[in-house]
Amino acid sequence: MGGRPLKGRISISGAKNSALPCMAAAILTPEKVTLHNIPYVRDIITQRRLLEDIGATVLTPELRTHQITASHIEIFEAPYELVKTMRASVLALGPLLARFGKAKVSLPGGCAIGTRPIDLHLSGFEQLGAEVGLEAGDVLARAPHGGRLRGAEINFAKVTVTGTENLMMAATLARGKTILNNAACEPEISDLAELLNKMGARVRGAGTARIEIEGVEALGGAEHTIIPDRIETGTFIVAAAITRGDLEIRDCRPEHLAALVAKLREAGVALEELNQSTLRVSGDHHIKATDVITEPHPGFPTDMQAQYMTLMTQANGRTAIAETVFENRFMHVSELQRMGARIHIDGHSASVDGPVRLTGARVLASDLRASASLVLAGLVAEGETSIQRVYHIDRGYERIEAKLRAVGADIERIRESVSATLSASLEGDAAIA
Ligand code: EPU
Repeated sequence: MGGRPLKGRISISGAKNSALPCMAAAILTPEKVTLHNIPYVRDIITQRRLLEDIGATVLTPELRTHQITASHIEIFEAPYELVKTMRASVLALGPLLARFGKAKVSLPGGCAIGTRPIDLHLSGFEQLGAEVGLEAGDVLARAPHGGRLRGAEINFAKVTVTGTENLMMAATLARGKTILNNAACEPEISDLAELLNKMGARVRGAGTARIEIEGVEALGGAEHTIIPDRIETGTFIVAAAITRGDLEIRDCRPEHLAALVAKLREAGVALEELNQSTLRVSGDHHIKATDVITEPHPGFPTDMQAQYMTLMTQANGRTAIAETVFENRFMHVSELQRMGARIHIDGHSASVDGPVRLTGARVLASDLRASASLVLAGLVAEGETSIQRVYHIDRGYERIEAKLRAVGADIERIRESVSATLSASLEGDAAIA
């Protein structure tokens, strides 16, 4: 089997999906919010642009530290131009509505992983007393007279991560108490709640399905360090396992990855928790076909489904992978098939037959996690794999090629944010570029 085993130490960046809502939370106060461990990825640059566009000041005294001051907000909207490139721009809505009593957002269009509506966010705002209407393709939300939302008990019909975050932020400045039932339990929700509480909010129960928020008059500045990215961690675990390498993964939080770690162990990956922030993946793993179903946290994360599928192309036997969170998140399948994978899709499930010998090809990245799965496939494929549109991967992985190269992968960025080439053949020298 082709593939150069990855060996060495790799360090995990801050969680993009925690940094994005924490940056939006800075809109809730005129005082300075300092965030450390912000990953240097494209979505963060987009979020920063949104904050600056609406009038906030963002300083970066260090690459991964952002000081955000939203004392002079002039515009109360997340413009279409930004929402269409990054759906998480809708996270500005809750804070704008809570502090200024009004917010406008263009409806996010269809996106590569299926139609992703924001109906649950909007109905939540309505339950907090906001009037929500459509105006020339934009959604306009207004708080009741007096400009303050009012607390309410909200039962989410479906678990939504950014929906929970948006409502949690909106409720911090509402009059009275808000209860969010069937709330998302992702570690990023708890991280945001921790920041909000440091800012003076009264949020309890984050990380469970019932969150209670007691509204306060005003919020103040705070300093906070973003949690490590559990999906980047998972991606590197798979990179080590698929190349039969030996990687020490540092600055991570294994406790946030329990379902993933359990599943990978079941599949034969030798994973050791060296301490609270270090994992070691080592040994000659004999990967066994192991079925998986994606679920909201604490279940197996949908954001690891594509990478896990690549791993299963190397497993012995047939694996069933069911995607229950998003309606259309199998775009990586056609590209993996072009590299030789034997995958069959049936509705929301895919069956993967392994092991197969993957061969290098020119492939197209369609979304963030799909691109990660193609990089992983390239690490074991024979010959050269050329991935086009790597800007997708730059949305959420900090310089993935540099991190992988440092542990022995033969990977190179050919053009800035356009394509990357990696060749992974067992023979030949480690031509580290
Ligand atoms: N949904 C609705 N109505 C809504 C909101 C969501 O029907 O108003 C549906 C969605 O269409 C989807 C399901 O509910 O089928 C769950 O979506 P959710 O709202 O939880 O997703 P999200 O908040 O838009 C976040 C992450 C995603 C991650 C999902 C699921 C951020 C910025 N994004 O998205 O991350 O896949 O939760 O865990 O936190 C990624 O990083 O690659 C990524 C896509």
